[in-house]
Amino acid sequence: MTPVTTPTELRLAKRMARLGTETAFETLAKARALEAQGKSIIHLEIGEPDFDTPTNVIDAGIDAIHKGYTHYTPSAGLPALRETVAAEVTRTHGVPVTAEEVVIVPGGKPTIYFTFTALVEEGDEVIYPNPGFPIYESLINFTGAKPVPLQMREEKDFRLDPNELADLITDRTKLIVLNSPHNPTGSVVTEQDVKDIAAAIGDRDIMVLSDEIYSRLIFEGRHHSLMSLPGWRDRVIMLDGWSKTYAMTGWRVGWLIGPTDAITAATTNKVAAIRRNLVTHHGGSMQGIQPEGRCFAPPAGKDGNACHLLPAQCKHEIL
Ligand SMILES: Cc1ncc(COP(=O)(O)O)c(C=O)c1O
Repeated sequence: MTPVTTPTELRLAKRMARLGTETAFETLAKARALEAQGKSIIHLEIGEPDFDTPTNVIDAGIDAIHKGYTHYTPSAGLPALRETVAAEVTRTHGVPVTAEEVVIVPGGKPTIYFTFTALVEEGDEVIYPNPGFPIYESLINFTGAKPVPLQMREEKDFRLDPNELADLITDRTKLIVLNSPHNPTGSVVTEQDVKDIAAAIGDRDIMVLSDEIYSRLIFEGRHHSLMSLPGWRDRVIMLDGWSKTYAMTGWRVGWLIGPTDAITAATTNKVAAIRRNLVTHHGGSMQGIQPEGRCFAPPAGKDGNACHLLPAQCKHEIL
């Protein structure tokens, strides 16, 4: 007898049943529909800054299109942009990063997909923060690996507990996802936390995806990254981008930084290869804003002319 199968089941690959989603976008669509009906809505669903992209960045984008940044670029990104990102991360993280280790990607999110696709497979375990950015769990499931949630507890100010992390690590742990500042709780790891996390992982052959997309939105203290600890540069893949800091969520510019050793060349090149297969490279004009040296410059203060690095701070100063 012919098995009873729905047309959908016949067409879709099995892995599609494992793909989750980010409900914030569905909630946003509902909220926008209510707004269209004239209702006043306070948006708490989406990680969207409450200011617009600064005008100097907009001008740089328009300029880049006029200057011809509208063609194919290398898959890993324009060399000048990769160099600028490398120099900035070297400065902020106190570890040497070269342009070859940087891959420019369309926003922060693709780094999660690229990293999981490049590193993780069935049978592997991936530890990720819970609650956390929902795409981690969705894509761990998609790759066929086992998602291992690490609870972010209120008693710890929603910072992860390194002892609990240590308890979750097994021989199958391939990757650990860290996210500080943390979405959705806003917790920020301390310097001691980072050292304790390093001790919990020890010298096992485990890579870390460090999601630092909110690292420049810290209002007290400073950002700490596992990447900065001695010996960790080669074990961390960094996710960052301009979406949140510069209110550039719609521009889709981010970067992945891979390890420096032989694996990297492998990791970074493989990641570039995945994106070459998918979308060739990131939009040339989006990348073109950087070679002009207009971002990452220190904010100029109150003259209102050169608010490059910290638009949030600039906004406060201008007001
Ligand atoms: C923790 C975290 N990582 C990554 C991203 C993705 O950022 P992007 O919009 O640049 O893809 C978000 C966006 O909300 C986030 O909250």
